Amino acid sequence: MISERSSRIPPFHVMEILEKAHELEAKGRSIIHLEIGEPDFETPEPVMAAAQDALRHGMTQYTHSMGLPALREAIAGHYFTRYGVNVSPENIIVTSGTSPAMVLIFSALMDPGDELILSDPCYACYPNILEFVGGVPKYIKVHEKYGFKYEPGKLGESIGSGVKGVLINSPSNPTGIVLDTDDMQKLVEVVGERAYIISDEIYHGLVYEGSENSILEFTDKCFVLNGFSKLYAMTGWRLGYLICPPDFVRPIQKIQQNLFICANSFVQQAGIAALKETGDYTDAMVKTYNERRKYLIAELRNLGFGIEVEPTGAFYIFANAGEFTEDVYSFCFEVLENAGVAITPGIDFGEGGKDFVRFSYANSINNIKEGMKRLGEYLSK
Ligand SMILES: Cc1ncc(COP(=O)(O)O)c(C=O)c1O
Repeated sequence: MISERSSRIPPFHVMEILEKAHELEAKGRSIIHLEIGEPDFETPEPVMAAAQDALRHGMTQYTHSMGLPALREAIAGHYFTRYGVNVSPENIIVTSGTSPAMVLIFSALMDPGDELILSDPCYACYPNILEFVGGVPKYIKVHEKYGFKYEPGKLGESIGSGVKGVLINSPSNPTGIVLDTDDMQKLVEVVGERAYIISDEIYHGLVYEGSENSILEFTDKCFVLNGFSKLYAMTGWRLGYLICPPDFVRPIQKIQQNLFICANSFVQQAGIAALKETGDYTDAMVKTYNERRKYLIAELRNLGFGIEVEPTGAFYIFANAGEFTEDVYSFCFEVLENAGVAITPGIDFGEGGKDFVRFSYANSINNIKEGMKRLGEYLSK
């Protein structure tokens, strides 16, 4: 018999759009992919070179369960340079991506029945991983007119005795919204000592106006999740890390030893190069993403999609499709079949996303232009 736990975990719905898109492509249809949350750039050359070098030098064995000391120092250095915060490498644990880091933090923090505050909408895997380890999501609906941010009053009222943590994700998937200093300060004040803040910083560096803040600038009662997939275009390398309070290091290390042992050794070596040698590459990618972002925002508004607060981070636009449909799930499949454009229904990210569609601009400007042309023609019918 298949376990109840594995029967309960939902699939990642965006994959269903992707699979349908592939099915159409196999039949010879041309599909513009605006559904995927994956950089269309190649991993920067210095990272490739470092991995090749590491392999050539026989770096194929287990590392320390917490990760290579040199990588943990480079991560601490990165947080100091970028945010001015002092993080001890002792509090950093390197993982095979941000997703395993999430499993480790949720496992170490949440007892069965403990609650974690999540925004609705939010990244679809948060509640799935949380429930898998026995935690309970406590959703706070966030609204487009407030840029899909937690409203401090509502957040304060929601932190009851069962709440162990509050999850934030800035820049956000699916909304592309970035929390500013004031937002972060208010959030930390409201949460106070009552709960831990878990900050998913995986889209850090992909910010097009102003700059992002790390939660570590505001409080120590927090966990940071981060990884190399997005900024360094390293999704398939599987490399991430977490930063945790000192008393959580040993428990998390033990879970890591049992579940994952360690992250890939030569990939960790390549991670050092990503942090230290790719500034020119990431600057160029950020510039390109920003050009696409501006184009897509203007074009979507022209077509009649609603964008109340302009997204300034990650590579997503969460656009209100209320003008066109009451059922965004069917709408996305119709657009895919009839216009050959793949987009993600907002309902994938929670009830709060039911009027929205997520557009990813991790695709070339020419493809984005073609996608908008096709979408425009389809909607005008
Ligand atoms: C908000 C968010 N967190 C975490 C992840 C997982 O990233 P990783 O590739 O590091 O596991 C993603 C991937 O799409 C994401 O969007």
